[in-house]
Amino acid sequence: MPDVIAYGGDWNPEQWPEETWEQDVALMREAGVNRVSVGVFSWSLLEPAEGVFDFGWFDRVMDLLAANGIAANLATPTASPPPWFGDAYPEALPLDSAGRRLHHGSRQGFCPSSPIYREKALRVTEQVATRYRDHPALALWHVHNEYGCHNAHCYCDTSAAAFRAWLRSHYASLEALNDAWGTAFWSQHYGEWAQILPPRDTPSFTNPGQQLDFRRFSSDALVELYIAERDLLRELTPGVPATTNLMAGAHWDMDCWAFAAELDVVSTDHYLIGARAEPHIDLAFAADYARSLNGGRPWLLMEHSTSAVNWQPRNRAKAPGELRRNSLAHLARGADAIMFFQWRAARAGAEKWHSAMLPHAGVGTKVWREVSALGAELAGLAEVAGSRVNADVAILVDHSSVWAQDHPAQPSSELDPVEEAKRWHAALWRAGITCDLAHPEGDLTGYRLVLVPALYLVSDSGAANLERFVRAGGVTLVGPYSGIVDEHDRVRLGGYPGAWRDLLGVTVEEFFPLDGPIRLASGGSGSVWSEVAHATSAKVLDTYATGEPAWTRNVWGDGAAHYLTTRLDDDALAEVIATVCAEAEARPPATSPPGVEVVRRSHPDGRSHLFAINHTAGDAVVTTASGESVTVAAGDVRVISG
Ligand code: GLA
Ligand code: GLA
Repeated sequence: MPDVIAYGGDWNPEQWPEETWEQDVALMREAGVNRVSVGVFSWSLLEPAEGVFDFGWFDRVMDLLAANGIAANLATPTASPPPWFGDAYPEALPLDSAGRRLHHGSRQGFCPSSPIYREKALRVTEQVATRYRDHPALALWHVHNEYGCHNAHCYCDTSAAAFRAWLRSHYASLEALNDAWGTAFWSQHYGEWAQILPPRDTPSFTNPGQQLDFRRFSSDALVELYIAERDLLRELTPGVPATTNLMAGAHWDMDCWAFAAELDVVSTDHYLIGARAEPHIDLAFAADYARSLNGGRPWLLMEHSTSAVNWQPRNRAKAPGELRRNSLAHLARGADAIMFFQWRAARAGAEKWHSAMLPHAGVGTKVWREVSALGAELAGLAEVAGSRVNADVAILVDHSSVWAQDHPAQPSSELDPVEEAKRWHAALWRAGITCDLAHPEGDLTGYRLVLVPALYLVSDSGAANLERFVRAGGVTLVGPYSGIVDEHDRVRLGGYPGAWRDLLGVTVEEFFPLDGPIRLASGGSGSVWSEVAHATSAKVLDTYATGEPAWTRNVWGDGAAHYLTTRLDDDALAEVIATVCAEAEARPPATSPPGVEVVRRSHPDGRSHLFAINHTAGDAVVTTASGESVTVAAGDVRVISG
């Protein structure tokens, strides 16, 4: 990792006359920009006609950067095939589940399984890599852009054939597939591989196993496209690291764990969702996810926004100081790059109403002043680069489980696994405790507490992993409708949750989704979901009015496993999470009032930085572990070295 914090954004000089470029670079230097992403959407100008390349203008872009000491995240421009591609190869455009062919004219207009797309993408990648392999500005490969943002699922005949090939490689025989998918149901038994289709629109519910495997296949197809480009880049430029910008925490179609395993360094994008009451907590979730995907090492924030975006129903501009709080919150949670979409606000195109580092109104603006001030501040925080956030708590998240629960035929559509994971994470955020996210089959040994808010599907090895963690002395808290089905979305029989009945000391005989709130003996409340559960070996800690268990605790080996049978409301959830944190001895790095975020980054040699971010409208006092009191003004951020 670099010994500076990378700072900058996507630069799209091709959208501007060349006279603007010198000014851009001069202003970048003024703002402390040391890194830009270039070429992200340049395919149609780099290869204006099939097989005809024009790199002259891009040479000047790269040379200008090098001359000014600004490093490039050089993109392979493969996220947006030019119009000639759709024109020449209409069969390579995506087909939706209703059989509707999509057209060129936006971006990501390609079928991920298309061999002709892959051929053209690798050819332009090879051209870019051979041309710039020795260029002094080249720092990092920015492969593609947000894989699967718009074309994660394609239902065309090419995809169907690729799906069947994927299935054949995952199932030893057609019989094994029929068994996994439960095709005895509704007369779905397959007699030939060729009969299997992607889950195109059908008269009623599609088969859950088919749907789940299609989502796995579709994610894998995108990972394979990444690998194909990366391998070519490794061959041509060994030593130059490669990444692609994920959308961790925001977009669940691509399996981030599978992608992350192939990246030299994890990078991600994050945008505030205006409809969320506390969007800065969602930011923390995304940042914690990115760090966890990179194995706890520093990661790169490839994009966020200086102010409003252009793709929500109402695009709120950021209040004064919000840009700084957001950026430093990412830094606090382990980012070693703070970058934006984009450098200069566009004059034309579908993103002309998206904010940028240099706004339409120019340099005499709040955004420009804040961008420049942040550049200077980050330069002064170079010592933070390379340090880590150490978490005692992990939350389990798995894309397969989210995909399986996404099948529409469920006991309740109101128990949203992603929102539950975010709500439990928010409870930790409010308690000042920074957590990692972990894959159910990942290494849990370093944690004291593992939260399982909503893990409907878990494999046998994932189930055993949590048991091992608790047996060795860990504490876990498991939420309702977790551990219910196996890896093929088949019910684990004999009483729910079949994966963890013994671990939890509880057996559930029936689910009772709720119309409204339900009172608990403790005075707390739940909603959406309840269960008729029997404690077999667990101690009951809270009950419904009927006396049936709402919260239980079971001793298991050297540890303990808590279980909730309802979706606790925020206050009651905060109390239970406080209890399990206390039991596991998971503590915040400082004491802070509500709405003040405290996170520590540490170097192995003991140097550390405590970030205190005040999201409230009043001044706040934070007390550090060593007893020092620090005042953080309303809306301010203090970075305390120690
Ligand atoms: C209908 C169908 C059954 C079953 C039930 C489920 O009655 O005939 O096959 O799908 O609905 O409620
Ligand atoms: C994504 C894309 C960018 C841009 C932004 C707008 O992150 O990667 O190209 O479209 O969204 O918010």
